[in-house]
Amino acid sequence: MDAQAVESQALSAIEAAATVDEVEEARVRFLGRKAELPQALRAVRDRETGMTLNALRRRIAESADAREEELGRAELDRRLREERVDVTLPGDELPVGHLHPITQVRRMVEDAFLGLGYEIRDDREVETVAYNFDKLAFEPTHAARSPRDTFFLDETRVLRTETSASQIHQLEEREPPVYMVSIGRVYRRDAITATRYPIFHQFEGLAVDRGITLADLKGTLRHVMRALYGPKRAVRFRTHYFPFTEPSIEPDVSCGVCGGEGCRTCKYSGWIEMGGAGMVDPRVFENVGLDPEAWSGFAFGCGLERTAQLRHDIPDIRALWEGDLRVLRQF
Ligand code: PHE
Repeated sequence: MDAQAVESQALSAIEAAATVDEVEEARVRFLGRKAELPQALRAVRDRETGMTLNALRRRIAESADAREEELGRAELDRRLREERVDVTLPGDELPVGHLHPITQVRRMVEDAFLGLGYEIRDDREVETVAYNFDKLAFEPTHAARSPRDTFFLDETRVLRTETSASQIHQLEEREPPVYMVSIGRVYRRDAITATRYPIFHQFEGLAVDRGITLADLKGTLRHVMRALYGPKRAVRFRTHYFPFTEPSIEPDVSCGVCGGEGCRTCKYSGWIEMGGAGMVDPRVFENVGLDPEAWSGFAFGCGLERTAQLRHDIPDIRALWEGDLRVLRQF
């Protein structure tokens, strides 16, 4: 074997290698088991030749190691350069949602009443005729009991037509004093128009304690209307009728569009109806086993859609149900 020739061939092959794999190939070619040099080493008989060939093998191996390291470093440099991430570039914009206007109003109502010490209830939407009508003292002939006005699931169950059944549940579950607000969906068999939708939301309030008067009801409603519409709006009360309150009233808020002058939104009256209210009827107390001589209270119910529409000047109730982002993004 020509040691010098082997050395120069091996070193130039290693030098010429452009990748770590090519260095490995050269290593196998010159130092592998079947290569000339290792074969010669195995056949060596004298010490001198052995030392010479061993030194040669070490030089080739070291040269391969050095080349491999050099190529490896170059590769790393290239990847660091090419795969560099510019952390100062603006990122991809992810769409961020927000709460639906109904949910926003719901939370405002909850905040206003939590601030007054009320507890918040969330009741069932499938209600029995007993809770939706009977215990609330609806007359047997009341129009709302008709399947033309109300969605009946069967003879005894309906989709609740108002949140007022929460009054009964609360009074059956808890001894007064009671201060509660119940918020949720209600259902009525109405055709869909700009002002009506067969599903909508109400918030229902109930306060039962000793010595509660109509003045307490009016003060509470004024407080809440101001929380929802701001301090500038006037609140007035008209008499009305509900089966489960006596006397019954309807609160109006002065029209924010015209400031009470009269416009299309308020049908030229200057006022907008907010819902119903009144003093808890003695029959309701009797129906839940409370003594009407010992306890008194008030109740009220208002629509959340109406509230959201008035806060944002949304003329058509359908906009709140269609999920059109062009509309919802504005609020
Ligand atoms: N439940 C009545 C309605 O939906 C509103 C109301 C609630 C009236 C509580 C009086 C007391 O019209």
